[in-house]
Amino acid sequence: MSAVRVRPAHPAEAAILAEMANDLNDHVGIHGRPFTPERIRADGFGPQAAFSPLVAELDGAVVGYVFFSPGYNTDIAARSVWLHDIFVAPPVRGRGVSYALMAAVAAETVRVSGVSLEWGVHTANAGALEFYRRLGAVAAETRIMGVAGESLRALAAAAP
Ligand SMILES: CC(C)(COP(=O)(O)OP(=O)(O)OC[C@H]1O[C@@H](n2cnc3c(N)ncnc32)[C@H](O)[C@@H]1OP(=O)(O)O)[C@@H](O)C(=O)NCCC(=O)NCCS
Repeated sequence: MSAVRVRPAHPAEAAILAEMANDLNDHVGIHGRPFTPERIRADGFGPQAAFSPLVAELDGAVVGYVFFSPGYNTDIAARSVWLHDIFVAPPVRGRGVSYALMAAVAAETVRVSGVSLEWGVHTANAGALEFYRRLGAVAAETRIMGVAGESLRALAAAAP
């Protein structure tokens, strides 16, 4: 079996990252395909990056990615890492590519003295839930919430 290689993504790979990130959105029923190469370059690279992208290679081809950011675990007052996205191209699923990507993010979590690696998952995403269960992940009894659009603007406008 071919070895999986995981490494930081390069800005020149923004197009394939955008395509895979949009494919992941489609997979969970979000169909706007909001990612563009420009958005990936602006938000995933440079000193103002909002997330760090890693890619997985199999036989020299990019076949998967993760996005992650620094996080903080206030339950125990310690650093953590937040995983935004993980995706592997359908033809190479089941070959350990995601396991290698998660291992790389776990290694980065340990490197920054993080005590946990955390992420959200759509509750209908049965395949991902099974994948995470096999990693030893446990579900937190919390719900991720957010404000956006008009609710966000209204709240921001109330800032003292
Ligand atoms: C979920 C996903 C990331 C798994 O990627 P993958 O490269 O196929 O996973 P791996 O080959 O590394 O599998 C690791 C383990 O998880 C298991 N696993 C992976 N996907 C699974 C699935 N859909 N159902 C059951 N088990 C699964 C594998 O059998 C393997 O277990 P083992 O070590 O006991 O053999 C991939 O299917 C994917 O990209 N899905 C679409 C995007 C997505 O849902 N991302 C998660 C968003 S929260």
